[in-house]
Amino acid sequence: MSIRLVQVGFRYARGLPWETQALKNINLEAGKNEILGIIGPTGSGKTTLLQLMNGVRHPSEGRVLIDDQDPAVLKGREITRLRQKVGLVFQSPEDQLFANSVYEDIAFGPRNLGVTGSELDHRVRWAMEVLDLDFEDLNQRRPQNLSGGQKRRVAIAGVLALKPEYLILDEPTAGLDPEGRKVLLKLIRKLREDLGMGVVMVSHRLQDIMSTCDRVVVLDKGEILRTGTPREILQHGRELIEIGLHLPPINLLLNELKDVFPHLDTTLLGPEEAADEIDRALRGLW
Ligand SMILES: Nc1ncnc2c1ncn2[C@@H]1O[C@H](COP(=O)(O)OP(=O)(O)OP(=O)(O)O)[C@@H](O)[C@H]1O
Ligand SMILES: [Mg+2]
Repeated sequence: MSIRLVQVGFRYARGLPWETQALKNINLEAGKNEILGIIGPTGSGKTTLLQLMNGVRHPSEGRVLIDDQDPAVLKGREITRLRQKVGLVFQSPEDQLFANSVYEDIAFGPRNLGVTGSELDHRVRWAMEVLDLDFEDLNQRRPQNLSGGQKRRVAIAGVLALKPEYLILDEPTAGLDPEGRKVLLKLIRKLREDLGMGVVMVSHRLQDIMSTCDRVVVLDKGEILRTGTPREILQHGRELIEIGLHLPPINLLLNELKDVFPHLDTTLLGPEEAADEIDRALRGLW
């Protein structure tokens, strides 16, 4: 079970003079039980890719298959059912919080699908629990008055209440403070571990991607430049800098130090590993 893109291309404003080739030659598979990260500079096609994965846009070339079904050829109830499998949370989703209570906001999606009564109640409670939102404390609060991190989690809960099998998140940590980011990234890992969901996430913050994802895709000018584990991607730190990405500070430091210590491993994740490696390098030299 997976979301698969085969030779996918996408052009905005097809046939018009200002036609833009946003994606080309994309071959990619995002599995269940996997957290796939997508990184790339501004305008590289990340958001467009996410929209193709959930079937809100259809490719100009190639095919997108969600669990072997092509949303471009399905109609009516079948397409609704297929889209339901892939929940998409937009960048700044809190802008979409509109109801008078957290409960009503989360209930909105499933209610629209015809879910009512105790099943609806169960879904709202379940989604809040998964996202570590205290039901008694928060369900009647106005979403607009919550903290940034809570709002983001309410927005994700609203998508989760649709019971998707894949969750696609566009810049989920943008605008959050360090604590909010840490909590959210931990919850994203929990979605995969406890629910076996397939998660695809886009982020400008490479440290969020590297610490959370199993596999990473690097997009540049609408094409896949590289795919690999976080460590494999970090082996090409200079390439990431060249296309305009900011390395996590630790990896930037290790890359700088590599000029002095050529054997230094620049792919380490987090300050502890990096400190040990720098310590080894210093001992080796002196
Ligand atoms: N609605 C649209 N109409 C025309 N062109 C678009 C549209 N949306 C995006 N584009 C163009 O398609 C390309 C890819 O855009 P996309 O939004 O997917 O990039 P992105 O990697 O998500 O960028 P960012 O990091 O800024 O969010 C860009 O050249 C962009 O200008
Ligand atoms: Mg984008």
